Amino acid sequence: MTKVDVLLGLQWGDEGKGKIVDVLSGNYDIIARFQGGPNAGHTLEFDGKKHVLHQIPSGIFHPKTINLIGNGVIIDANILRKELDALIARGAKPSENLLISKKAHLIIPTHRMLDAAYENSKGDKKIGSTLKGIGPTYTDKIARVGLRIGDTMDSSFEDKYQSLKDSHLRLLEAYNFDYRTASIDGISLEEYEKLWLTAIESIKKEITFVDSEQFINKQLAENKRVLAEGAQGSLLDIDFGSYPFVTSSNTTTAAVCTGLGISPAKVGKVFGVFKAYCTRVGSGPFPSELENAVGQKLRDNGHEYGSTTGRPRRCGWIDIPALNYAIMLDGVSDLIITKADVMDNFDELMACTSYKIDGVEIDYMPFEIATKEIIPQLTRVKGWHSDISNIKNYAELPKDFINYLNYIESLTNLPISIISTGPDRKQTIIR
Ligand code: GDP
Ligand code: IMO
Ligand code: MG
Repeated sequence: MTKVDVLLGLQWGDEGKGKIVDVLSGNYDIIARFQGGPNAGHTLEFDGKKHVLHQIPSGIFHPKTINLIGNGVIIDANILRKELDALIARGAKPSENLLISKKAHLIIPTHRMLDAAYENSKGDKKIGSTLKGIGPTYTDKIARVGLRIGDTMDSSFEDKYQSLKDSHLRLLEAYNFDYRTASIDGISLEEYEKLWLTAIESIKKEITFVDSEQFINKQLAENKRVLAEGAQGSLLDIDFGSYPFVTSSNTTTAAVCTGLGISPAKVGKVFGVFKAYCTRVGSGPFPSELENAVGQKLRDNGHEYGSTTGRPRRCGWIDIPALNYAIMLDGVSDLIITKADVMDNFDELMACTSYKIDGVEIDYMPFEIATKEIIPQLTRVKGWHSDISNIKNYAELPKDFINYLNYIESLTNLPISIISTGPDRKQTIIR
């Protein structure tokens, strides 16, 4: 009996999870997404080309690896259709190595309008949602009125769809949201819906829907190697993130159990991915944020613009209390650092090593994170000031960079076992 290894982000998303999953996919028989939906944007780069995945697991370019969209994921059929077409154009064959859980919930077109209506109603207290319908879809799931992709195989689907849509239209009217003139991805609700219903039909023909909890447990019993791929980041978790500036799913390791249907005893290694600095898209607290030229330099060097929405990402120093909070919640066994190359031309770096709140110094993320002023306490760290992006062996890394890694290891009490030195598959050092 094997266990499910987990790979997830330890910050506010976009840590480089997609790139690392793609690199590790050769070692696994199955890659499974367990939560989130098209709010995710996971970038893979190889053979000089870039590919962004939203709902499909990042092992999809490995023909021998099965990719599973688990029951905890939510799916927009139009976005999935586009993802499938882009993959097919690149020579992948998703009909042969992609499976979808029948229990995965559907994001219907009006969920997306509700997302926009709720955001509009919040004025300057906006969450900064990706507007993919994530919050409203998980809300309906919990309210027990949602639709699952497996429901599309039953003759009652049309009626169920219509009744959910009608309830959404009444809500949109209550929010004074004019759904007749508003658009989704540049087209009307009517057009989006037409494409969406067609997409459902074509996906049903091409992709196998499975009882994924049965499938995955059987695979583990047969000693197959499974990697669960997280979306978003631990600090966006619905329970433990800076509520209400969070996403609407649990993004931490615990969600692997409910999002795939495995027992906690079947969780194996937990790989925690973090950037050598921090970024955040959307609103919400960010103690080590740099709203200055240094932040801009990180954004420019790191091309910090959202993979899903294109929005500029907010940038700041690495935040150790936040990192340790995520490590505690996730039970991380191995750390993976990405994007250190972005700081190659920095003389001096800072690390946020504690916070001051109401004049008191603390080393953990407090409940008051979203309501009180948090002053980051910074510790100076020497830069390495050389190009690490072409280095292939750990031993060749500059001494000052190794010191930076040792420093983080000493503050987290964990080994950094993979070092990513650039966006390409090949720019990876496995220790
Ligand atoms: P994900 O959501 O965690 O999969 O991350 P994203 O794909 O949204 O954002 C990470 C971005 O950084 C992508 O553009 C990647 O191609 C890129 N990237 C990943 N690892 C590295 C790295 O080590 N160095 C640099 N410079 N870019 C990286
Ligand atoms: P990946 O998987 C970064 C952020 C949004 C917003 C908040 C809520 O690529 O790391 P939502 O649309 O989920 O209701 O938005 O969460 N967010 C992400 N930020 N990376 C992501 O995914 C994100 N998914 C959601 O910007 O602040
Ligand atoms: Mg991303």
